[in-house]
Amino acid sequence: MDIRRTGIKSGRALPQGMGAVKEPPPMQASTSQQDQASPRRFLPSGPLRGRIRVAGDKSISHRSVMLGALAVGETRVTGLLEGEDVMATAAAMRAMGAQVDKVGDEWRIHGVGVGGLLQPQTALDMGNSGTSTRLLMGLLASHAITATFTGDASLSKRPMGRVIEPLSRIGAQFTPSPGGRLPLMMTGANVPVPIEYRLPVASAQVKSAVLLAGLNTAGITTVIEPVPTRDHSERMLRGFGAELEVEEVGGERVITVRGEADLRPQTIEVPGDPSSAAFFMVAATIVEGSDLVIENVGLNPTRAGLVEVLRQMGAQIEELHRRDVGGEPVADLRVRHAPLTGIEVDPAVAPSMIDEFPVLFVAAALAQGRTVTRGLEELRVKESDRIAAMAAALTAAGARVEETEDGLIVDGTGGEPLRGTSNARVKTHLDHRIAMAMAVAGLASKDGVEVDDTRPIATSFPAFEPLLDGARA
Ligand code: S3P
Repeated sequence: MDIRRTGIKSGRALPQGMGAVKEPPPMQASTSQQDQASPRRFLPSGPLRGRIRVAGDKSISHRSVMLGALAVGETRVTGLLEGEDVMATAAAMRAMGAQVDKVGDEWRIHGVGVGGLLQPQTALDMGNSGTSTRLLMGLLASHAITATFTGDASLSKRPMGRVIEPLSRIGAQFTPSPGGRLPLMMTGANVPVPIEYRLPVASAQVKSAVLLAGLNTAGITTVIEPVPTRDHSERMLRGFGAELEVEEVGGERVITVRGEADLRPQTIEVPGDPSSAAFFMVAATIVEGSDLVIENVGLNPTRAGLVEVLRQMGAQIEELHRRDVGGEPVADLRVRHAPLTGIEVDPAVAPSMIDEFPVLFVAAALAQGRTVTRGLEELRVKESDRIAAMAAALTAAGARVEETEDGLIVDGTGGEPLRGTSNARVKTHLDHRIAMAMAVAGLASKDGVEVDDTRPIATSFPAFEPLLDGARA
């Protein structure tokens, strides 16, 4: 019998000191559960200058905690993003038996071993975090335990059918709310079945959920990716010692992972998040006189689409001191103000900048001429419907924007500031990236832009406002 899997129920076969279910620490209340919204007007700004360092990469931070929690021994992580989303992952891993602690500047994770996750005693509150939810559903799918996932109002609207479908084939059972949404209860498979799964949507979350389920599934689990998405799971699984292969076959990526893996603890340095740097790249580009260095930005090719697109529009972004950090390409980016020209954005680049469209729309609103984006239907199922939310927010700020089914058409001002929102507040719909994108729009406006709630920013980039205020001081 597989010791690891029997260990789940009895606790007997777990490594010493890991058999007991620990009381999970109190969860941070998700944004929707706190009472007062926190509106703020982002005023027109002088140049952004100096050097800043953005928060750690959110995707890599989630995976560091999850994989650390599955390795036997101590994983050490520096640069971990301490946003609410990653803290939701940490709380969930604690609730399932791992130790996750901060000691000085370092996070230390003592894992339970693949197959060793314990039954959580309370519902797992995922807050606003789709990545925590979908990846953890993957992990749990091959552990014979039952868990309930809950989330805030935004997360409770997002589709989970995309992971329920492949994970059901593996043998997990789900009781979701209507429409395949949270709150949702699931029970992982007793004897998980390895599957071969071709992704019907370009989603790193779905890919990762299946690969993570494959870790505790005897045999080979295969994911076929017709359109490449961020590859942090593949890189990190390999780093932790999983047997994972990636092949190009007929233009598709075929990823295989061998199950019943033994993960070895790692020391990880998390690079800065390109999705957080994006707000400063655009801010420095559109605000006259700016000359800003953003240090330590991850430039994994599956994430760096925005840099290329902004350059095509005329942005001046220089890569300094290119290096590797934690197995990922990284550079310091020097961004100087530059006039932008509208372009047609190639839909093929969308997966490599999927979270950066809200702020790209802001750049387009200040460009000379028309920017056309297409193929962005995935944006409608993010933390908010980002096509509709940005169309409404930019229109309220005086931009000329047309919403289509799968994108936005933006006619820019040619560098003239936007009017701004004199009496109105733009609605952020519990979406951190709408709030930050519209904060950036405020810098290049006459009246400033008032966002209805800045609290969601803490999900991914708690230091955003102080960094922004510092860079333009
Ligand atoms: C993420 C994948 C993306 C992205 C999200 C983080 C990840 O979602 O939007 O912010 O860490 O795997 P999809 O994979 O659903 O596109």
